[in-house]
Amino acid sequence: METLVLSNSKSDIEKAGEIIRHGGLVAFPTETVYGLGANAFDENAVKSIFKAKGRPGDNPLIVHVAKKETIKELVSEIPPKAQALIDAFFPAPLTVIMKKSGKIPESVSAGLDTVGVRMPQNETAAALIAAAGVPIAAPSANKSGRPSPTGAGYVMQDLGGKIDALIDGGACSVGVESTVISMAGDVPVILRPGAVTQEQIEKVIGPVELSKGAFENIAVEKAQSPGMKYKHYAPQAMVVVVKGGRDKFEKFVNSKKNVFALCFEGDNIKIPKVTYGAEGSDESQAKNLFAALRRLDELGAKKVYARSPSGSGVGAAVYNRLIRAAAFRTVDLEKPFLIGLTGQTGAGKAYVGQYLKELGYNIADADYYSKIVIENREILEKLAAAFGSDIIKNGAADRQLLAKRAFSSAENTATLNAIMHPAVLNAAVKGAAFPCVFDAPLLFECGGDRLCEITVCVTADEKTRLSRIMQRDKISAAQAKLRMQAQHSEEFYLKKSDCVVINDGRNIKIQIDNILEERL
Ligand code: TXA
Ligand code: MG
Repeated sequence: METLVLSNSKSDIEKAGEIIRHGGLVAFPTETVYGLGANAFDENAVKSIFKAKGRPGDNPLIVHVAKKETIKELVSEIPPKAQALIDAFFPAPLTVIMKKSGKIPESVSAGLDTVGVRMPQNETAAALIAAAGVPIAAPSANKSGRPSPTGAGYVMQDLGGKIDALIDGGACSVGVESTVISMAGDVPVILRPGAVTQEQIEKVIGPVELSKGAFENIAVEKAQSPGMKYKHYAPQAMVVVVKGGRDKFEKFVNSKKNVFALCFEGDNIKIPKVTYGAEGSDESQAKNLFAALRRLDELGAKKVYARSPSGSGVGAAVYNRLIRAAAFRTVDLEKPFLIGLTGQTGAGKAYVGQYLKELGYNIADADYYSKIVIENREILEKLAAAFGSDIIKNGAADRQLLAKRAFSSAENTATLNAIMHPAVLNAAVKGAAFPCVFDAPLLFECGGDRLCEITVCVTADEKTRLSRIMQRDKISAAQAKLRMQAQHSEEFYLKKSDCVVINDGRNIKIQIDNILEERL
C-alpha cells in the first residue's frame, strides 16, 4: 500500500477524516507524539492498528476525542475526581482511565474493563477527530518497541507503506507521550508520567499515587498498565543512564572508547555524542529525547552513556522513558566509590587493584586509612575507654595489645568494629577522588558497600591462597591456615558482591574489562 502524505490544510484533514470513517489508518500529529488513528468504534480498523505496529494484542489503546461531551459515551461513569481533571486540564497531554462503556470494542481495551480517554491540544489532531466524526483510537505511530515518533519523517520510517495516510504537522511540541492516570480504582494512580505533572494533578484532586513501575523494573504480572511491561523506546544500542553532575559525567565518558554520550547541549564531551535538550530544562529534554535515541541508531552506536534527567516535574516523564530505553541500567557517579573491591586474604585483590589503577581509577585503601585513623586522638580515647588506657603507649596504640584484647571475644571484636568502621569509612570518603575504587577486605562488614556503585570480590582456590599468603607474609602453612580460617567463607563474598573476578592467574584483565563494560 502507498501511504498518502497529507498536509494539515483543511481539505487534507477532511480527506483524512474520511479515510478514518471508512475504516482506514491515519497517522497524525498531537502535541505529545504522532498517533496512529482508527475509528474507535470499528473493531476491524482497530485490529489493523495492532497489525501495522506489530503491537501485542494485550496492550490497550487510548481513545481520542475532540469534545468533552463525547467522553460520557465512552465510559460507564465519570467519577467526580476524573471530572475535575477533565475540567481543569482537557484539552491536554493527559489520558484519564475510567470504566468503559459497552460502546468500546474489545480490541481497544485489550480485554480490560477500562478505557483511557484523551482530548489532544494539537489543533490538527482536534480538527481530524472532528472531521472523522468519531472518536479516534490511537497508540503512538511507531513500530512497536521503537522510540515514539516526534516528527512525520519518523512515522514514515517505521510505518511507511503500512498505513493509508499520514498528516505531516511538523515537530511535536511536548515530545513525550501523555500522562496516563487511572481513575478507575479507589486511589488515583499515575501509570505513566508526562507533561501534566503529579504536582499539577494533586493541586486539583489531592494526593495521587505514582505507580512503582514508573521508575522501577517491576514484575510483569504486577504491571497495572500493560504498556509498562514491554521494553519500550529501545534503541539498538546498550544505554546506561548516568546519574551525577556534569563534571563527573564528562570525566567518566571522556576516558571511554567506542561509546557514545547522550548529553545536554554545552556539555564538554570529547567522544562521539548526541544531545537531547539543555541541562535544567525538562521541557527541552522531553522534546528532543526520542529524536536523539533514533539518531544514535542511525549513527550505529553500540553503547551509550546518557546523562540523567532531573526525575521531577516533567523530568519524571523524561526519566521514565530514558530508563526504559536503558532497560533500567544505571550508574550513579554521586556514590563516593565507583567500585568496592574485596575478597578473602590471598585471593589477589591487590593485583586487581593495581590493574584498576592502571586504568585510571584512584584507590582508597581501607588498610591505609585504618592505620591513620587509629592514631587519631578521638579514636584513641574511645579505644582506651573500651580496652584499657594501657593500650596507649607514647601517644599511639599498642597494636599487639589492642589486637589481643579486641579479638579475645566476639563481643570485644564488635566493640572494636563499632569504633573503627565508621571512622575508616569516613576517612576513606574524605580521601576519595573520582573515579574511585574502595579497596577494603571488610567492605561489607563496615557498610562501605552501600557507598559503592558496584561491588567486586576476588576469589581464588584455597591452595593458591595458602601459598600466596605464605610467600607474601613469610609465614608457615599452619600460620597461614589460621589466618584463612579467621575470615568469612568464599560464599559470603560471592553472595554479597555484584561481580566476581576469579583470580587463578588467567584472563584476569579480561574479566575486569568485562565487568567495567557491562556494569559501568
Ligand atoms: O500521548 C499519547 O498518549 C500518545 C498520543 C498518540 O496520544 N499515545 C500513546 O499511546 O502514547 P500508546 O498506546 O503508545 O501508549 C498508551 C499507554 C500504554 O502504556 C497502555 O498500556 C496504557 O497507555 N493504557 C491505555 N489504556 C489503558 C487502560 N485502559 N488501562 C491501563 N493502561 C492503559
Ligand atoms: Mg507507544
